[in-house]
Amino acid sequence: MEIREVAVVGLGTMGAGIAEVFARAGISVVAIEADPDALRQGLGTLDASLSKAVSRGRLAASEQAEIRARVRPAAAFSEAAAVDLAIEVVPERMEIKRQVFAELDRVCGPEAILATNTSSLSVTSVAACTRHPGRVVGMHFFNPAPVMRLVEVVSTVLSDAAVPAAVTELARRLGKVPVGVDDRAGFVANALLLPYLNHAVDLLEIGYSSAADIDRAATEGIGLPMGPLALLDLIGLDTSLSILDVLHAEFGQPRYCPTPLLRRLVTAGRTGRKAGRGFYAYADGKIVGVGAAAGETADVAAPDTVTLIGRGDEHEAEFASALASAGLSVTRNPAHPTDLVVIVAAEGQPILPAALAAGRGDQAVGVNFPGGVRDARLAELIRTSLTTDTAMAAAGALARRLGVPVVHAPDRPGFLVGALLYPHLADAVRMAQHGYASAADIDTAMTLGCGYPRGPFQLIGDIGAANVVAGLQAMHMAYGYPAFVPPPLLAEHAAAGIDFAVAGRTPAR
Ligand code: CAA
Repeated sequence: MEIREVAVVGLGTMGAGIAEVFARAGISVVAIEADPDALRQGLGTLDASLSKAVSRGRLAASEQAEIRARVRPAAAFSEAAAVDLAIEVVPERMEIKRQVFAELDRVCGPEAILATNTSSLSVTSVAACTRHPGRVVGMHFFNPAPVMRLVEVVSTVLSDAAVPAAVTELARRLGKVPVGVDDRAGFVANALLLPYLNHAVDLLEIGYSSAADIDRAATEGIGLPMGPLALLDLIGLDTSLSILDVLHAEFGQPRYCPTPLLRRLVTAGRTGRKAGRGFYAYADGKIVGVGAAAGETADVAAPDTVTLIGRGDEHEAEFASALASAGLSVTRNPAHPTDLVVIVAAEGQPILPAALAAGRGDQAVGVNFPGGVRDARLAELIRTSLTTDTAMAAAGALARRLGVPVVHAPDRPGFLVGALLYPHLADAVRMAQHGYASAADIDTAMTLGCGYPRGPFQLIGDIGAANVVAGLQAMHMAYGYPAFVPPPLLAEHAAAGIDFAVAGRTPAR
């Protein structure tokens, strides 16, 4: 099946990006959008993206003109009569998808492949309402489509084997990495990503942390390219809500149940970047008015004297030496009248007992360095119910003096980074445990589809399965949510002291 011309139906942000990807690969594109305003806007998105590539020296001006000439705007489905493949990129509502497929089924030749870019809806349901269900597949791109390398190729029980094979080959021609997946809600990447994003909104809604801190914990604490709230703004809050609704209807687990705040923002029209406002406000595509992250606002002087309380391990020694290098006077004696009591936190354990033992709970702040003290990219400043605002401000000033960005976290298991990450890793393990995708495929999906520098299973290897289990157990003890129970497969790897990445062994489920 040679693919020379395609139709892209729907020219929103994703549709425009997908049209660009095809045109860049030398394929002619009929860009179908019935609404003239949406068509104009979609072509504007395409032009802006190409111009940006030219201005960054990634594309020659002559190539820009050639790529643009390959995209033929159209208002009617009849223009798709001669295409080899048509892909719909319309809103995530089954009735709209079915209407589009009915039209494509009518106008396209019998050999043409019909693809859906749905993020979560059943490809089988879409296929079943067409005259030739064997030619219907999912071809799922990631936002921004010109940048993210993953394409999930979704087969159904009705698909002719040659069709997903042709789409897989096409994805390679586009410079993408295709991963074959079954028709299950959310496929691989969204089924894993969306509950993590939803959890981040929940942490914001319950006042666990600020938006800036939640996003900073993800970027600096985990190393992800974007924080979860900024990413929701990029994907679109409405799209994200639709995906969660589908996942929740399909799997029924509370982690998929959309947080009320997400639903309220969608109702209010604050759907993210495309609306100029979501969790953040946007001007010219850039975040404006974020609000300061923790420790940035206070014009409090850094403390000169610190009481350091730890467990006498290497973390404490490294931290003490960093404090001394920054010119602070450090004592281990809580009875000395210092400016601040700093407790070197142990993951999974509350700092409150140490704060009480010091007898200066109001002045005690916990500090946790998710990636270790040396070359720290982030410090979590942990407060108990006794800690005063003055002590938190002093701890923020101290971190500034050390040159380490901070986030604030309550004295709860996982603090902030772990609270976001551990349940996400547990979800990934459950997905492998349930035989839905292999650990390697899940890592590929998250690195190439969502820009993770390390996939979930690689992250488990970095942190240590036993530490992830301990973090989850502490969260489960504190909250009782089933999603925090360590999956047996993870517990087994922790107990056996083995890595998921070891070749030549098929993990049990
Ligand atoms: N369109 C085209 N190109 C874009 C772009 C866009 N919207 N946004 C960024 N780029 C390009 C830039 O031009 C730049 O290209 P060059 O390197 O060739 O110059 C490159 O991407 C890097 O961009 P920036 O330097 O401006 O910014 P960055 O380094 O912060 O990267 C990012 C931006 C690629 C978006 C990165 O933050 C990232 O990977 N974020 C994660 C995105 C993600 O998770 N996507 C998946 C969401 S889930 C989904 O989409 C599925 C679904 O069904 C909902």
